[in-house]
Amino acid sequence: MNMITCNTSEEAAQVAAQLVIDRVNAKPDAILGLPTGGTPLGMYAALAKAVREKRVDLSAVTTFNLDEYCGLPVSHPESYLTFMTRNFYAPCGLAAAQTHIPDGEAADPDAEALAYDNAIRAIGGIDLQVLGIGHNGHIGFNEPGTPPDARTHSVLLTEQTRRANARFFASLDEVPTRAITMGIATILEARELLLLANGADKADILAAALRGPVTPDNPASFLQGHPRLTVIADRAAGARIVS
Ligand code: PGA
Repeated sequence: MNMITCNTSEEAAQVAAQLVIDRVNAKPDAILGLPTGGTPLGMYAALAKAVREKRVDLSAVTTFNLDEYCGLPVSHPESYLTFMTRNFYAPCGLAAAQTHIPDGEAADPDAEALAYDNAIRAIGGIDLQVLGIGHNGHIGFNEPGTPPDARTHSVLLTEQTRRANARFFASLDEVPTRAITMGIATILEARELLLLANGADKADILAAALRGPVTPDNPASFLQGHPRLTVIADRAAGARIVS
């Protein structure tokens, strides 16, 4: 594991963006796995700036997002498709054909999950998967208790996750109860992982994930077994990690 602790979340975003830029410059048609949430926003902004300044060309990459809510119109401002369009696809000039995200409006979420997983396999797998970490250790929407062999599947969101995400909605009632997420096995098959964490509220769960036992109770702990994992944290999130 390569652990990078930055002084600020802004610096962490720059370092994360530079890692993505380096990988894409080495392989312009890289397959990128991408997260939503508050954590990657700085990285996305830095990537958009790099595209404008022609320090990276994203025109040949393909992206697969980790997850999407079910039961929310994809046009809803907080659907993950809308989030990605606003924060990454549009600012970076990505065409719709380059980008993939589970269809949260699919009539059969399990069939959609299987098709999504198959699409990742068919393209040859993900080169670089970027991840955030939830306060309960979730990666994507793999909540505590998810087995490590889980592939892309539909899930019921925990109350804790819904409460954490309620800040983006008018009320907790509006937060969807279900989602489709890449599974832990799908995530671990990526050839390289980049885990991002910012803020003191992530310090305990990040330390437990990286230094504690590998257990379904903390899904991010399964990342410990990956041969090519980089963790980029700001000082507050990295504070509890003893080397
Ligand atoms: P956050 O979410 O980036 O908004 O903290 C991370 C996650 O839940 O995976």
